[in-house]
Formats: sequence, structure tokens, C-alpha cells
Amino acid sequence: SIKPVYKIAAIPGDGIGAEVTNAALKALDTLSQSSDAFALNVNTLDWSSANYLTRGWYMPPDTWEDELKKHDAIYFGAVGWPTVPDHISLWGMMLPIRNSMNQYVNVRPTRVMRGTKAPLSQLDAKPSDLDWVIIRENSEGEYAGQGGTTHGHANYAVATEVAIFTRVGIERIMRFAFETAKSRPRKKLTMVTKSNAQRHGMVLWDKVFHMVAKEYEGVVESDKMLVDAMTVRMVNKPESLDTIVATNLHADILSDLAAALAGSIGIAPSSNLDPTRSCPSMFEPIHGSAPDIAGKGICNPVGAFWSAAEMVRWLGQGKLDQVADQFMEAIENVTGDPKTRTGDMGGQAKTDEVTDAICREIERIC
Ligand code: NAI
Ligand code: MG
Repeated sequence: SIKPVYKIAAIPGDGIGAEVTNAALKALDTLSQSSDAFALNVNTLDWSSANYLTRGWYMPPDTWEDELKKHDAIYFGAVGWPTVPDHISLWGMMLPIRNSMNQYVNVRPTRVMRGTKAPLSQLDAKPSDLDWVIIRENSEGEYAGQGGTTHGHANYAVATEVAIFTRVGIERIMRFAFETAKSRPRKKLTMVTKSNAQRHGMVLWDKVFHMVAKEYEGVVESDKMLVDAMTVRMVNKPESLDTIVATNLHADILSDLAAALAGSIGIAPSSNLDPTRSCPSMFEPIHGSAPDIAGKGICNPVGAFWSAAEMVRWLGQGKLDQVADQFMEAIENVTGDPKTRTGDMGGQAKTDEVTDAICREIERIC
């Protein structure tokens, strides 16, 4: 059979975003050659904060959407640098891509990887107790971008940040969450809300959840948690959770907590999906550009590798699951060896050493 060739737009971005993207592309190249199951045609786009400062744009105005749509997937490092206010960089690149490319689902798996020192284990928990997928609403809610500022420079300045909840938006994320829960062994979904204090948007959120839940009765077991109590349950009863669905803001926060409980923010992946597949989906580690360690060659590329594995899985539509699993096995063999762990995992290895080790493992396994 002819092996499929996928077109990838790679956006390394800023700081360690560029370092981990470089590492991920090397691993993907090795994976495609070693497995012989697919090929990648990578187009690297130099959209970054440094270039924003000289050009005045993050993405070429007028053409960026067409440019991205020529690809099957987008691989993203991180955007944000101390020379540009964070709301400018985030709204200059990442959020417009999520919105325009119809990426209304953000999937964030978390588990305790071999070799991580998970803070949870100090709480009497087994590594297998933490194995979650957080499904984040990625298109509306608290990050819809509606609002405004008046009298911005006066001491009576007023600003509003309006959260948007639509029935269509809620229903599609709930369906995705129930389907994800159904596909996992435990078939369990926890819905996160704050409908006690936020009595409009969150009440609609709950109502649509209960409506969709009826269709999954007897198939997926579901329950509801207030977001504040959820933080406590994640720490004290991690084994009681499996698939979690939450709003844009709530899931943003809970997934960083999940990553920290699992050992390091440097290992966690995320997928921004357009489930309709009419636009390219985007894959990125959850961490940012880490200016404190950028340029030193010491950042952990594991979150970038895991994101790349998720990209391969998504592109294959079932046909590359085995290759993605082999990639994950290679990653865990490397994190399992103390000699090939970076500083955030208690080791001393450099980014390049971890990358070389992954490539060797991929060649051995595939
Ligand atoms: P950050 O994730 O960049 O760093 C937080 C801490 O974790 C730092 O101490 C960093 O050294 C450490 N860390 C993160 N990734 C690591 C890795 N792979 N290996 C080892 N250590 C790692 O978050 P921070 O500092 O809040 O943000 C820095 C910049 O990144 C800001 O401009 C922010 O807006 C941007 N950002 C961008 C994101 C994106 O593009 N998706 C996500 C989060 C932040
Ligand atoms: Mg975040």
C-alpha cells in the first residue's frame, strides 16, 4: 500500500517552544522512517514574538487562515515573551487559530509517567490512581473575548469580561466528552461547573449536560462537581476520576493542577481538535515559552513528544494507533531511565540527549 503523506505546519514560536518543536520534529522524522507507515511534509512558519516586534504582526494579516488550511495538522511550540504583553501574544496567534480553525475541543490527557516524581505519591496514592483526560471547551466561555474598557486611564476605569455560553457550543463539547468517556475502560465522566454562584451561563451548561447524559444512561456513568470542590477531589481522591469536562477557564486551571500532580508541567500534552475535520487540528505541549530556562538546552521535550504522538494518532484516524503507541512506549522507556531525565524530572540530561535517546528507542521498537 502507498503510505500517506501528511502536510504539517510547524510553528515553533518563542523560547523553549522552539527548542521542544525542534526535538519533536526530529522524533517524528525518525518515527516516520523507522515505522515506514507514514511520511510528513513539514512547513515551518516563523511566527514569533521576536518577529512580531520587527514586523508588527504575529501571523500575516489576510493570508494566515488560507496558509494554515493548506495543512493536515498544526504543530505548535509556545508563544509569549517578556518583551510583549501576554494578552497581545496570546490574541496575536494562539487564540485566533483555535477560533478560526474551529478547534472547539481541547483534550488534555494526564497520567503518571514512568520516572516522574509525582507529588501525589506522597499522599499515599499509586501512579495508576491518576489517569485522566480533561476535555476543555475551547471556543467560548470565559475566553470568548467579549467585553470592553472605558475610562481606561482614570481611577474610575471600568472593564467587563463577558463569558459566552451557547447551547450549540455546550452540546457539542458534552457529546465529545461522553464519547471520550465511552471509549475508555472505566466509562466515567465528571462534569465541572460553578452553577451555584454563576446563575446564567453555568445553569445552561448544567442543563445541556443532563440532557446529553440521558442518551448515555447505562453506558457512561456521570457525575457533577463544583470547580472549587473539584480541586480537593483531584488531590484527595484521584482514583475516583477518569474523564472530566469543564469550561475554557476551569479546564485551563484544572489541567495545570493535573500536570503538577502528575509530576511536571514539562510532560503534559494538549490537542486542539476540530472534530468535524474541516480544518487542521493543532497539537502542543501545555507549557509556555519558559523564559527562565530558554536558550540553555535543558528543557524537557517529553510534553512535545507526547503531543506529537497524539498528532500521529489523530492524523491516522485509527490506522496509526499502533505507531503512536510505539512512540509512547519509546518515551516511557526514556523517562524510565534516570540518565535520560531532564532537571524538572530530577535528572541532569540535556534536551538533545533526551531527544537522541528517544530516536534510538524508536528505531529499536519500530
Ligand atoms: P511556562 O509553562 O512557560 O513556565 C512555568 C514554569 O515551568 C517555569 O519555571 C518553567 O521553567 C517550567 N517549565 C515549563 N515547561 C518546561 C519544560 N518543558 N521543561 C522544564 N521546565 C519547564 O509558564 P509561564 O512562565 O507562566 O509563561 C511564560 C510565557 O509563556 C508567558 O509569556 C506565557 O504567556 C506563555 N505561555 C504560552 C502558552 C502557550 O503558548 N500555549 C501556555 C502557557 C504560557
Ligand atoms: Mg494554561
